[in-house]
Formats: sequence, structure tokens, C-alpha cells
Amino acid sequence: MNRAPDPCLFVIFGGGGDLASRLLLPALCNLKATGLLPEGFALVAVARGDMTDESFRSQTCATLEKTAASVAQNDRQWICDRLHYVRGEFDNSHTYAALGQRMPELQQKLNAGPSALFYLATPPAFFAPIVRQLGAAALAREGVGRWRRVIIEKPFGRDLASAMALNSEILSILSETQTYRIDHYLGKETVQNIMALRFANGLFEPLWNRGHIDHVQITVAETLGVEHRGRFYDATGALRDMVPSHLFQLLSLVAMEPPTCFDADQVRVEKTKVLNAVHFGEEEARADVVRAQYVAGIVDGQKLAAYRNSPDVRADSGTETFVALKLRIANWRWTGVPFYLRTGKGLKKRRTEILIRFKRAPLALFHEVSHAELVPNDLILSIQPDEGVSLRFNAKVPGQQFRLGDVNMEFKYGDYFQAEPRTGYETLLYDCMTGDATQFQRADTIEAGWKIVQPILDNWATKKGALPEYPAGSSGPREADELMERDGRRWRSLDSNGTEKAS
Ligand code: BG6
Repeated sequence: MNRAPDPCLFVIFGGGGDLASRLLLPALCNLKATGLLPEGFALVAVARGDMTDESFRSQTCATLEKTAASVAQNDRQWICDRLHYVRGEFDNSHTYAALGQRMPELQQKLNAGPSALFYLATPPAFFAPIVRQLGAAALAREGVGRWRRVIIEKPFGRDLASAMALNSEILSILSETQTYRIDHYLGKETVQNIMALRFANGLFEPLWNRGHIDHVQITVAETLGVEHRGRFYDATGALRDMVPSHLFQLLSLVAMEPPTCFDADQVRVEKTKVLNAVHFGEEEARADVVRAQYVAGIVDGQKLAAYRNSPDVRADSGTETFVALKLRIANWRWTGVPFYLRTGKGLKKRRTEILIRFKRAPLALFHEVSHAELVPNDLILSIQPDEGVSLRFNAKVPGQQFRLGDVNMEFKYGDYFQAEPRTGYETLLYDCMTGDATQFQRADTIEAGWKIVQPILDNWATKKGALPEYPAGSSGPREADELMERDGRRWRSLDSNGTEKAS
């Protein structure tokens, strides 16, 4: 049975922004609705806009009517009543002096105890300055019965050197146990289910290795283009935006060794170990990576303008909106089993899924069927928009002849569990408030991810000239198919429907 966290104060830097109003505050409303917030609770937004407690509260309440529409009015109101506003620049000590005055006052008024969580929902350039200022103002100081924790958004660094520098700066002020580097993928039920599937069932683990698995595909396909995030995205690109964080989290959950127990350090040790075992150097960066950019096309019946014609994107931008790569993991479990990863924007379907392809049966016993016709067994972990697990296998087609057909065994989350409305942030916010860092990234996990990606960044830095292109609404560039075809393999089609049978 989950318990409500200790009373605390929840401070959101960038609390007037999109992330706060679309995801964080609705997630807090959902936690309140399920009894998972403490009675003693106060919220403070720190932002640059010229607002007062009252104007911020009324603006946020109006937004929450839309972004937390499924939450009962009294639970939404409960959150709104606890909202406060501190105006200031993130890198100015006056802001922290004002915050430092406000905190004890609110903690007392709302019975919120001495503990506090600081959520950095700001552009990455402010992560280090905010932590520095929190340290200088002694706001991050812990004591008996008083915790102080900081959640840091992604992207955590732009490359290996900057991620290491950021870690070292943050850890000169905060301890690792106060530092919660968030990746919202780890809050998704179906991502958490990967561990349940692997480690709570006796069936899969004995087969989960190079003896039985041919290869693994991880796909995070998005239909949306760059939307209003051109400035951020054009300086970031698909690789930095998605791969060291979301895709590597999926990879490590699929490939890690079973932890000795479900404890934050044990789980994170195993995740880091498997990332450190990825063998990826200059040669792989040249041969096993594809990048591309979308040009105008039709997605879901709507025209999507070329990436280069999106707001705040340079007209001659060389930023990739799609990336595919092949990785090898050099350990006893996975040597010889390639992991293929792809992610892109402006694709034909929204689909996050992992395909585990098992090796074919060693021979065809049935005269009418050649070995090549036997379908390999695919285990598909569907993360979004469909949530479930399916297993594809051969079965006899009814009739006199011995013919085989491929069929699917399917589990859909929605058929079994009554899902509560969620943004994906509920678990992560709750975990942080209760001090459970299992679903957050440790410094070494972040750095292990960037170590893999760094040779790709180095290789791209030497390349000038146009990128391969793909029309918006397609499955991505031809070059990504070729990456697989060279190994005699194919991506699972984006048209195959969620957990339904592969085409
Ligand atoms: C974010 C990226 O971290 O994840 C976005 O910055 C991306 O570019 C998003 O669209 C995808 O998240 P989800 O939950 O929609 O798959």
C-alpha cells in the first residue's frame, strides 16, 4: 500500500512554463486525487514573469481546467489553493533571498514541514546556475528530519564533456542522494513493466540471451514535427534529444542483468554496467549510424512543412530529425546480438515499441514448409500509443494439409487493468518525494550514455554537406532500411498495428 510522502514544499523553477502547466501540475492533481500527497503541502513557482500569487494562481487554475480536466474540481482546487509565486531571474542571488524568506513562511502556514523539493523545469543552461545559487543560499542544506532534493530535467549535457562538467559542478554542491536526474520515459507504466516482464516471470529470462535471441529493435517514432520548439531542437537534434536518455533507458532495461534486489543502487548499477558494455567507437560511428531530416509531406492526412521551414529553424539547417543506429553489447549475454535503435519526428505513425526477435526453429519438420517459411518468434513490448505485449508464433492452419500460419498471442493493458489518468510524471514525483531514486539516472549512468554517443558527435562534427532526407509521413530514410538489410534483416513496419501481428 502506498503511503503519502512527508509534508514538503514543492518549488518549480520555470513554474510558469509549459512543462509545469501541461504535465507537472496535472500530475500533482492526479497524486492528490489518489491520496498520494501529504496534507501539509505547499507549491512555489519561481519564474521571470511579472506576476503575483493571485494572478499566477488564477492563470494556472484556468489552465488546469484543461490540462487536468479529468481530475475532480475539489482536488484541482486543493492544488491551486497551495500555489505561490516568487518572481526573479534564475541566476540572481536576490531571487534566492526572496525564496529563502518565503519558504519558512509557507511551510509554517501550510504545515508543510522543513523538507523541500526543487524541480528545475528550465532551459538546461540554468541547471548549474540554479544549483549553485541554491547552495550559496543554503537552501539545499539537509538536516535531521529535513530533506532537500533537486530534480533536474533533460537534456543533461550536450556531449560527454559537458555532462561530466555538469555532474561535477552539481555534485560539488549536492550529494548524489539529493540529485534526481529525470527521464520521463521511466515514469511510463509500460516501461516499468519491462522489468516486471523479465524478472517476475520464470519463462523469459532463460531465453533472454544470445543463445535464443537473434536481434532487438527499439523504435521511438513520432508523427509530430518540431512544432514550436525549433530553437531548442535545431541546436539539439534527434540524437542528443532522444538517444542518450529515452532510447538508452529502454535499451538498458531490456539488456541489463537481473539486479540482486529492487533497490535504487542495485538497479542503477546493472543499467550502467550494460551501457558500459556497449562497444562503440569511431568505426561504428562511421558505419552503423544513419541520420536524416524530414522534408514536406503528409502526416495523418495533414500537410507537415519541411523541417527547415519550421519556426526558429535555420533555413540551411543540418540538424537531424531522424537517427538510426546499430549497437553491439560486448558481454556474455549479448555478444553477437545486434541492437537496432531508431527514432524520428514527422514519421507516418506514432509508435514506441521494442521487438525481441527469437531465433528460428533449427529445422522444418514439415515437408510442406521450408525452413525459410517458418516465422521467427517476435516478442513485442508496445509502450505507446498501444500498451501491451504480444508474442508471434507459428500455428497449424486448419485443414487436411499441414500448413503453417503465423498468429499472435496478445495482452493489452487496457483489457486487464483500470488505468487511472496519468501524465507519466506521477510515479517520478511521488518517488522523489519518498526518496526512492530507482527510476532516476545516476551520474555514472548519464556519462555511460554519452560515452556511447560521443564518437557519433565527433564523426558528424567533421562532416559538411546535406543530410539524407525523408518525406514527412514516411517510415524514415532509405538508408535506415539499408542499415538492416546489410545484415539480412528488416525493421518491423510502422504500419503493423500496435500489438497486432507483424506484416
Ligand atoms: C522529449 C523530447 O524528451 O520526449 C521530445 O525532448 C519528444 O522531442 C518527447 O517529443 C517524446 O516523449 P513521449 O512521451 O511523447 O514519447
